Amino acid sequence: KKRVFSGIQPTGQIHIGNYIGALSLWVENQAKYDNIFCIVDLHSLTIPENITADYLRQKVREAAALYLASGIDPEQSTIFVQSQVPAHAELTWLLNCVTPIGWLERMTQYKSKSENVESVGTGLFDYPVLMAADILLYQTDLVPVGEDQTQHIEITRDIAQRFNHLYQPTFKLPEKLIRRSGARIMGFDEPTNKMSKSRAEVSDRHAIGLLDSPAKIKNTIMKATTDSDRETRFEYASPGVKNMLVLYEALTGESRTEIENHFAGSGYGKLKQDLVEVVVETLRPIQNKYQQLMEAEDYLTKVLNEGRERAQTIAVQTLNQVKMRMGLK
Ligand code: TYM
Repeated sequence: KKRVFSGIQPTGQIHIGNYIGALSLWVENQAKYDNIFCIVDLHSLTIPENITADYLRQKVREAAALYLASGIDPEQSTIFVQSQVPAHAELTWLLNCVTPIGWLERMTQYKSKSENVESVGTGLFDYPVLMAADILLYQTDLVPVGEDQTQHIEITRDIAQRFNHLYQPTFKLPEKLIRRSGARIMGFDEPTNKMSKSRAEVSDRHAIGLLDSPAKIKNTIMKATTDSDRETRFEYASPGVKNMLVLYEALTGESRTEIENHFAGSGYGKLKQDLVEVVVETLRPIQNKYQQLMEAEDYLTKVLNEGRERAQTIAVQTLNQVKMRMGLK
C-alpha cells in the first residue's frame, strides 16, 4: 500500500475548508492507503502570539478528537502529535543545512503570513522545512491537502532531491493528493479570499467551524456574500455563489448537472437554505462523536500513545539513515 501523510495545525478553529480540502479526503481514501495523520503542534508555534501552554495542550486534544470524530479509524491510520516524535525537529535542522534561503523567500504563504505579524519569528520562515521533515521522515508517497499547500509540497520535493543529490538517494519524492473540486473553499464574507483560520478569528461571517451550532451555521450562510442575479450554474456563478455550489457538491457527492437542475430557476435563498441543511446534517454526527470522545480522556490518550509509538519507529529509521549519510553516526 502507498503511504499517505498529512497534518493540520491544532490552533484556531478547524473549519469546513479544512474538512473538505483535507480531513474528509483522508477519510474517503483511508482503506486504500497506509495512513499517518499528524497534529502539527510545532507548526502552531510559528506565530506564538496568543498561544498559551494550556491553550495549545487543550487544542491538541480537541484536534485528535476531531480527527476521530470525522471518521479517522485508529485501526487503519496512525494518529500522533508532532512534538512527541523528536525526529521531526531533528530532521528539520539537518534539512535546514541543505535548503537555500532563496527557496524559502519565495514561499507565498510566508509572505502573506508575515505581513500580519508584528515580529516575524525565524520559525515562521523555516515552516516549510519542518513540513518537509514531516513528510520525508515517513517515505511518503501521497500528501492529501488543500490547494494552498501545493507550493510546500513542491519545496519538499526540491529539498529531498537536493539531499539525495548531495549525499545518497535517501528520500522518496512525495506527490500531493488534491480534490478536483473543493480544494480551495473561500470565505463566506469575502469569497475572493480563501477560508482561513486567522480571518475566522476577526470575522464571524467568514468561516464555519466544525463545532459550530446549527444557529451559527445558518447565520453565516444566510449572510454569505452573493450578487443581485440568480445564476446558479457552476461556470457562470459569481465567486460567493460558486463557493456555495462547490460546498454543496463536496458534501452531497451529487454531480454538477444534478445540482444545477436542482437549483435552476430558484433564487439564492433556496441554495442557502439547502446548504444550511446539508452542512448541519454533515456536522451533526461529527459533533456528537466529538462530545463523546472529549469525555473519554483515557481513550484519547491511548490512541495518541499508540500513534506515537508507531510513528516513532518509522521516523527513527529514516533519521538514522540520514545521520549515517551525513557522518553523524
Ligand atoms: P492547515 O492547518 O493550515 O490546514 C489543514 C489542511 O486544510 C487545508 N485547507 C483548505 N482546504 C480547502 N479550502 C480551504 N480554504 C483550506 N484551508 C486549509 C490545507 O491545505 C491543509 O491540507 N502546513 C500545513 C500543515 C502541515 C502538513 C504537514 C500538511 C504540516 N506538516 C505535512 C501535510 C503534510 C497547514 O498549515 O495546514
